[in-house]
Amino acid sequence: MDFKNKVVEIITSIDNEMNVDEALQIIEIPPNSDMGDYAVPCFKFAKKFRKAPAAIATEVVEKIGNIEGFEKIETAGPYVNFFVDKTHFAEKVLKEAFTEKYGYGSTNVGQGRTVIVEFSSPNIAKPFHIGHIRSTLIGNSINNIYKYMGYKTFAINHLGDYGTQFGMLISAYKKWGTPEIVEAIEKDPIPELLKLYVRYNQEIESHPEYQEEARYWFKELENGNEEAHELWSWFREVSLKEFNRVYDMFGIKYDSFAGESFYSDKMPLVIDELEDKGLLKDSEGARIVELQEYGLTDALIQKSDGSTLYVTRDIAAAKYRKETYDFYKNIYVVGAPQKLHFDQWRKIIDLMGYDWAYDCVHVMFGTVSLEGGALATRKGRVVFLEDVLKKAIEKTTEIINDRNPNLENKEEVAKQVGIGAVIFQELFNNRIKDYVFSWDKTLSFEGETGPYVQYTYARTCSLLRKSNIEIDDNIDFSILTDKSAFNVLKKLEGFKSATLVAHDKYEPFYITRYIVGLAQEFNRFYHDCPIIVDDEKVKKARLLLTQIVNIVLKTGMDLLGMKAPEKM
Ligand code: ARG
Repeated sequence: MDFKNKVVEIITSIDNEMNVDEALQIIEIPPNSDMGDYAVPCFKFAKKFRKAPAAIATEVVEKIGNIEGFEKIETAGPYVNFFVDKTHFAEKVLKEAFTEKYGYGSTNVGQGRTVIVEFSSPNIAKPFHIGHIRSTLIGNSINNIYKYMGYKTFAINHLGDYGTQFGMLISAYKKWGTPEIVEAIEKDPIPELLKLYVRYNQEIESHPEYQEEARYWFKELENGNEEAHELWSWFREVSLKEFNRVYDMFGIKYDSFAGESFYSDKMPLVIDELEDKGLLKDSEGARIVELQEYGLTDALIQKSDGSTLYVTRDIAAAKYRKETYDFYKNIYVVGAPQKLHFDQWRKIIDLMGYDWAYDCVHVMFGTVSLEGGALATRKGRVVFLEDVLKKAIEKTTEIINDRNPNLENKEEVAKQVGIGAVIFQELFNNRIKDYVFSWDKTLSFEGETGPYVQYTYARTCSLLRKSNIEIDDNIDFSILTDKSAFNVLKKLEGFKSATLVAHDKYEPFYITRYIVGLAQEFNRFYHDCPIIVDDEKVKKARLLLTQIVNIVLKTGMDLLGMKAPEKM
């Protein structure tokens, strides 16, 4: 039986004009379980019954009497408070979780439908910096969550590997690419390529013809010029090697790296289609789609020299994805500053007559800045993502050496915990919030952090290792009715709702908050109730609870993209 549904039934029987959704909305969860497990405020009914809410509450309690599954139902002023039967509750939660195991939090809303999650998508030949952490980790977690909820997901990295800036880079390399520079690029690609790019931009001021040359080289790249293509491939390859190091550290895997360049040969078709559908207008030699009547600025589709733009490639990419994957949803995890771009792009797809335009979702997030101002790659105000991970691992190694120097597999654990801390922190808040990166905060492992959750998980592993008994769900559930066990059970019961809101709102932080809350409740229980005791019945019951917590913590960490070491 589902306790909340029972309360819904009661509400709809009091007021038969109320539907299930409305009833669900008025049910409150009291902040403290001494006030009941569910509460129904009676203000809502006062007008209809022309009585004071407290009087209505009293009548309701008298009318419903005893109901199976509830220990008692009481009034508190205008509230009706429902106290669930704890034994019943423990049995319901644990039997279900024991049967479903790692699937306990999933509701299979996906039903095998295909979802594309595009995330990270850095620009090649540019630093992979702290600003990229957001799309990378939020996107990876959304991909995990959607997979868990029964979708078939495709993780795509839409690399920024095309555009005029590569004309600049090719031109710069042709001017200044001495053998020493080649060697430097091989050794440390991104900073060296960035230097070329920055120098080119600086010299444009005194050599305006460089602008033209860069355009020429990008055009050549688009036309398939072999030399241009070879250089560009090299830039791409060395960049990807760097990005992959970070993806490997995070344990992130992609199904496709089809970035902007992948669509270069699909551009003429897009232009033709826009033309055929009467959407293109000439504007001083360039081609645009007018969008002002929709409250947007016009979108530039093709420059006067024939080269295409970011938005053109995104139109081609969306069409390709629809044709190739027939997605149910196409999710773009990209920062809030690109909102206008995605609004324009979606409107254009809509104007092209594709109703799936609205199955494309821009999941945006706030920006990361540094203390003292914005990230500015060209000014050297940048924090490399790889350095953040390395420092987190270093710090974890120090802590382990200090507290648990004989830990087996020390290096691997330090990696899992250091990186886990970074992931957990990134996914701790609502994604739309801007934040300022701080080394202190990133490297602080006290309180509500990833290492705390991992430590709790390792604790459950150790208890299960030590227990030495076969765990099953044939237990005396009344043993788990004391306050701290019950609080753990209530948390466990909320797992499905946590994954569901995280899914609905594209917000991994609901899971982050959920698992840290579960870890806290479990630690209280561990403190209050000894688990490995002589009484076999008690031991068996508490171990079953421990095992379910173990499974749910592990599932939650998996969804966030964190590793869960069994010993710490
Ligand atoms: N490469 C872009 C950037 O770094 C992000 C790409 C976002 N995805 C897209 N389909 N436009 O700003």
